[in-house]
Amino acid sequence: MDTWQPADIPDQTGRTVVVTGPTLGGLGHHTALELARRGARVVLAGRTPRKLDETAVAITDEVPGADVSPLVVDLSDLASVRSAGEGAKALGPIDVLVNNAGVMGVAEQRTFDGLELTMATNHFGPFLLTGLLMPQLIQSGAGRVVTVSSHFHRMARRAPLEDPRAAGGRHRPWAAYARSKLANLLFTLELDRRCRAAEVPVKALAAHPGFAGTHLAANGQYGRSSGGVASILDATIRAVSQSAAAGAQPSLMAATADLPGGTYCGPSGLAEFAGRPQVTLMTRLARDETAAARLWELSEQTTGIRYP
Ligand SMILES: NC(=O)c1ccc[n+]([C@@H]2O[C@H](COP(=O)([O-])OP(=O)(O)OC[C@H]3O[C@@H](n4cnc5c(N)ncnc54)[C@H](OP(=O)(O)O)[C@@H]3O)[C@@H](O)[C@H]2O)c1
Repeated sequence: MDTWQPADIPDQTGRTVVVTGPTLGGLGHHTALELARRGARVVLAGRTPRKLDETAVAITDEVPGADVSPLVVDLSDLASVRSAGEGAKALGPIDVLVNNAGVMGVAEQRTFDGLELTMATNHFGPFLLTGLLMPQLIQSGAGRVVTVSSHFHRMARRAPLEDPRAAGGRHRPWAAYARSKLANLLFTLELDRRCRAAEVPVKALAAHPGFAGTHLAANGQYGRSSGGVASILDATIRAVSQSAAAGAQPSLMAATADLPGGTYCGPSGLAEFAGRPQVTLMTRLARDETAAARLWELSEQTTGIRYP
């Protein structure tokens, strides 16, 4: 397969897709919108009920009759993820889980569980959520887990394999983000290997959006996307990047194209900043099977889940 386009998305009628981080104007919103347009039942999984409602209204405005429902989950809080896992049981089989939610460049902050906020939100929460939803992904008969990483994973110098509850040295927000996005890829490849070894019908794939105009930077720097300098940063990013709709395309390709597990999708343009999605490459560190196995073990210990 060369490049891909949204017109390639097959009919999704009868399929259930859970998308985390679907805030209006972000990649999750556009991922959910396109899948709803093709007839999928979309479950919007996010931490702020008002924002989930806003996105649901925007989707049903564009796709009248779309089947959209909320699932409240704060991925930085393991108890909240467990309770979302309980709530999600009523959904029945899940065909696709898109682990899209994330934070970038946030200041040092420990979560209720004693974890650094970036790793908690971008890796440990999604690790637990995916594990809790595995029985339903297996039930679908052809489940798929798509995790949204970043080209920025290339900046990571080593995998995040230290004790995540230990007080570290100086917090470097961008290094923490890069390592969390490396963790997304280590997780994807290890999950896919484990599913194949256990002969369960679930594939894991990853995607990155290039550089897309969303609220990510303003949220990370200011804890919000509007008001004062946050609005200026938000608008500046949007002016110099591809649209969020275009940025969602690699996730949509990974979620729906006929691709093997372990595939990584990203934009085809210069430096993978923008452009039609295609299959792309991850770094050698991301393909390190020893690091992936160690991260898996650490993630099981940290979150208390064992995958089926
Ligand atoms: N935009 C880019 O250029 C770019 C580049 C590379 C990778 N990515 C990746 O793309 C993904 C989506 O980001 P985006 O660009 O669409 O940014 P965004 O608009 O800021 O979306 C991030 C989403 O994550 C949610 N989120 C943050 N913390 C959460 C938590 N504790 N629990 C549940 N949800 C939480 C946010 O919810 P709230 O609105 O409630 O905060 C929001 O819905 C991220 O994984 C990011 O790393 C983006």
